[in-house]
Amino acid sequence: MVDHVVAAFDPETFRARGRAVVDLLADHLARAGERALPVLPWREPGEALGAWPIDDRGGADPLGILARAIDESNHLHHPRYVGHQVTSPLPLAALAELVAALLNNGMAVYEMGPASTAMERNLVAWMAGRLGLARGDGVLTHGGSAGNLTALLAMRQACAGFDAWGRGAHEGPPLALLASEQTHYSVKRSVQIMGWGERGAVPVPVDDRFRLVPGSLAGAQRAAEAEGRRVVGVVASAESTATGAFDPIHPIADYCEARGLWPHVDGAHGASLALSDRHRARLEGIERADSVVWDLHKMMLAPALATACLFKDGARSYEAFAQEASYLFSGHARPEDEWYDGAARTIECTKRMIVLGTYLALATHGARFFGDYVAGTCDLAARFAAEVQSRRDFELAVEPECNIVCFRLLGPDGDADDQTQSRVRARINASGAFYLVQTRLPRGVFLRVTIINPRTTEEDLDALLDAVAAEAARA
Ligand SMILES: Cc1ncc(COP(=O)(O)O)c(C=O)c1O
Repeated sequence: MVDHVVAAFDPETFRARGRAVVDLLADHLARAGERALPVLPWREPGEALGAWPIDDRGGADPLGILARAIDESNHLHHPRYVGHQVTSPLPLAALAELVAALLNNGMAVYEMGPASTAMERNLVAWMAGRLGLARGDGVLTHGGSAGNLTALLAMRQACAGFDAWGRGAHEGPPLALLASEQTHYSVKRSVQIMGWGERGAVPVPVDDRFRLVPGSLAGAQRAAEAEGRRVVGVVASAESTATGAFDPIHPIADYCEARGLWPHVDGAHGASLALSDRHRARLEGIERADSVVWDLHKMMLAPALATACLFKDGARSYEAFAQEASYLFSGHARPEDEWYDGAARTIECTKRMIVLGTYLALATHGARFFGDYVAGTCDLAARFAAEVQSRRDFELAVEPECNIVCFRLLGPDGDADDQTQSRVRARINASGAFYLVQTRLPRGVFLRVTIINPRTTEEDLDALLDAVAAEAARA
């Protein structure tokens, strides 16, 4: 091998650069904590494109590029980041990522990740146990969208009434699942990836708090069947992305049990409430789910992408992916006996050592740490909602059930207009003072806050309302 290629693997260069990179990141954490940098250093997308050209001549200073990347990124560790549900990861978990990146164990089969395969198996069992899925197991996937697809493929195979995986979905009647109008788009996307079409996700109405109305399931199913579809399952959101609403799982599970349907719980964000004694009740009935998706990069403080896809009966997830590949799998008659060859039940072949950060964090900080974190964010959200309600120029969309709060500005006559919410949001984000998002609800556009950063305080949230009001007055 030519010398300069080998030289890139020099351990001493790595040591020196590694120390410098950790210094850069530690300085970044300090500056973010002091609110001494913009949350989102906004620039127009086209301008950003021009600022990051490819220079393939080599010879650049890598630390300089990384320092710039840190400066010019969205700063999720800033206490005034209250935007989308991607967490400010634990620094410890970020260190684990570095180790995982260098080791690069591919995880498709046991030999390509012996330590991480064992850690993953045990972590997933621990998570399933926390949800009350006593003998449950599962896999880690690259994100909740992949997790939902993984679970829904198992739902299809178990409940379609024909071998949709082996013979093809066209061999039977068109399929469908029932899910609330508020379900995350990845559920509908999974349905469309499976070829069921847009109408394969049958919307079930929600109540005035955006929770699925169980009494409407039968009507939704009848409508699907009238179109000649076979309904295979129901998706419950725990919670819904837009407003943080928890669907009632027991009645959904009752409905499924009576009809041989598969209850799936999308707990990408909310399943972590299982770790808080005070908030676990929101998930009542989750132990009756056939599958659950639980993101680690949301309320478990892990770097993205990291999701657990859990099954009450782990064997069902192998049936969804039954396949031969002699260069990888040993072709065991019961693949679940070879649980250690993970790719037999994942969309992914090569997979990052996703588990490492959470395994490390759990071992270092303990389960209570996560319960306290989750409870802390929910408490802060409740306090923020009360503050919104106490101000005459704001309206709360709905009492928060967890750490997501939607609110909007009211005009002098108590009216609200969508453009004002969007304009104020854009200006505040562009100023770098906060990063917040918005959502459209039946009553109109609302500003949306997710309290996900442990360093966000009551004062930060009061300052957010002040900033929104001041920006509106400037309009
Ligand atoms: C309820 C819910 N499900 C699924 C997803 C998709 O997860 P991911 O972004 O990890 O793909 C999200 C993302 O916010 C979500 O809120």
